Amino acid sequence: MKKKVLDHQDSLDFLNSSIYANSTQYWQNYWLNPLPLVNQFEYRYPDFNDIKTLFKSIRVKNILDIGCGNGAISFELARLNYKVTGIDVSPVAISQACGKSSNDEFDVDFDCGDVLDMPYPYGSFDAGLAFYIFEFLTFDLASYLVNQLKSIIMPGGLLVSSISTIDRDKFLNYEVLPDDTLILKDENQQGMFYHFYTEAKILSLFINWQVKEITRLDNDKYLIVARNFSNN
Ligand SMILES: C[S@@+](CC[C@H](N)C(=O)[O-])C[C@H]1O[C@@H](n2cnc3c(N)ncnc32)[C@H](O)[C@@H]1O
Repeated sequence: MKKKVLDHQDSLDFLNSSIYANSTQYWQNYWLNPLPLVNQFEYRYPDFNDIKTLFKSIRVKNILDIGCGNGAISFELARLNYKVTGIDVSPVAISQACGKSSNDEFDVDFDCGDVLDMPYPYGSFDAGLAFYIFEFLTFDLASYLVNQLKSIIMPGGLLVSSISTIDRDKFLNYEVLPDDTLILKDENQQGMFYHFYTEAKILSLFINWQVKEITRLDNDKYLIVARNFSNN
């Protein structure tokens, strides 16, 4: 049977479902007690130096950090004098980030909100960062988000993403959605979505972007650099 891809209205309906509410609830609770790895900058962003070089070479100014968590990478970029806005659905993460922001000489704007319903006007940013968020959405919602970003990031702008690939066997208890996304049922990951990406799947996610680079890092992460070639 041919798989149905969610259209705009289906995506909006899904966002009102209890399945989706449970996944955002998972992230709210997660930030009350995050994994220790969250604080290991080099582990999470082994490619950060390459990203700095890339942004410098194309004269990026305004960056949107999509699913910014407690702002780890937002602050690193603000220290390099970029104007950074971070958005995350977790009020706990955003209040941690704002707390750091008030103690830091570099200002970052943080918004608490859903990345699937962002308030930013057309062309607000010349680059976007999406670190470890696409794999935690359903594939259909990730595609919807990637398409929305085409209007928020200006034509010619860049979207830089990292996606981690966790072996499906590591999860014991889950249901599978029609787009092949897992909904985890384990007690400590109750409601979390996880979508496993291969390189081909990543390319299908960025189908409307020009993928300039896709690199598999040795610790099972991908780094993707894509350019918004549209004029919409
Ligand atoms: C694995 S964490 C990555 C955080 C950050 N990008 C980093 O690299 O440290 C995923 C983040 O996405 C956020 N998130 C998940 N779904 C979201 C949504 N629909 N809207 C906004 N943020 C979301 C979570 O709250 C969490 O902070």
